[in-house]
Amino acid sequence: MNENFKLYSQYYDLLYQDKNYVQETNYVSGLIETYRPKSKSILELGSGTGKHAFLLAEKGYSVLGIERSEEMVAIANKKKNESVSFKVADITKFNLDQTFDIATSLFHVISYLNDNESLIQTFKNVHEHLNKDGIFIFDVWHSSAVYHQIPEKRTKILQNESIEVIRKANPVIYSEKNVVEVNYEIAIKNLSDKSINTIAERHPMRHFSRPEIELLAYATGFKLLGTEEFLTGSVPSTNTWGVCYILKKI
Ligand SMILES: C[S@@+](CC[C@H](N)C(=O)[O-])C[C@H]1O[C@@H](n2cnc3c(N)ncnc32)[C@H](O)[C@@H]1O
Repeated sequence: MNENFKLYSQYYDLLYQDKNYVQETNYVSGLIETYRPKSKSILELGSGTGKHAFLLAEKGYSVLGIERSEEMVAIANKKKNESVSFKVADITKFNLDQTFDIATSLFHVISYLNDNESLIQTFKNVHEHLNKDGIFIFDVWHSSAVYHQIPEKRTKILQNESIEVIRKANPVIYSEKNVVEVNYEIAIKNLSDKSINTIAERHPMRHFSRPEIELLAYATGFKLLGTEEFLTGSVPSTNTWGVCYILKKI
């Protein structure tokens, strides 16, 4: 079982309750309409708790989410829609015996792949699972923003009716690898009995430049169709943390 998101998944939706999945899904379906209209099926890599998947299904797509965290998949499977399903799988080594019009990987999932071998393997897997002219849409950390803004320590505090979560992030920069290791110290306070559970997690995130993704695409059978700031569609700048890439299978 994968350890990184094991406990994290229990309060993931609380931590990201301010994340606008509806807006993000509208943005992604807009990209699909632009780059491959009439698409019907979506393979979602790193589908987490399934929020994008269910919203995409409401727009008429059938979605299969693959996700390495059993806990995340269990949360996703609590919701039901006959056009949506989830599988526990590693995006670097899956084989589904099925092809799709679109592949998506949202909220920096590809940045979790730190080494070139995993990236190449994942992109090749996606290529094999796409139909003719299939499109691969994903967002990753943007190198020029990381160099410009320099990740700093920060604390996030959230609460629902039963728990309070205090998450401290302490980033360590590995410049020679294009990786920022975000070390989280997470305290979960049970509001009824006041007990506190503390968890430490390590999230090594790789950041990318456009030429790097272009080269990766070229090496794995894709063409780069577009690069833009995730959600706004603006030209990526030194203030753009998340950049969206749109690749086409060739
Ligand atoms: C930041 S979360 C994003 C989840 C979801 N896409 C969302 O937008 O809410 C990153 C997800 O990627 C998954 N992940 C990271 N590496 C993976 C891998 N090699 N195979 C499958 N899932 C992976 C994690 O388990 C986690 O659920």
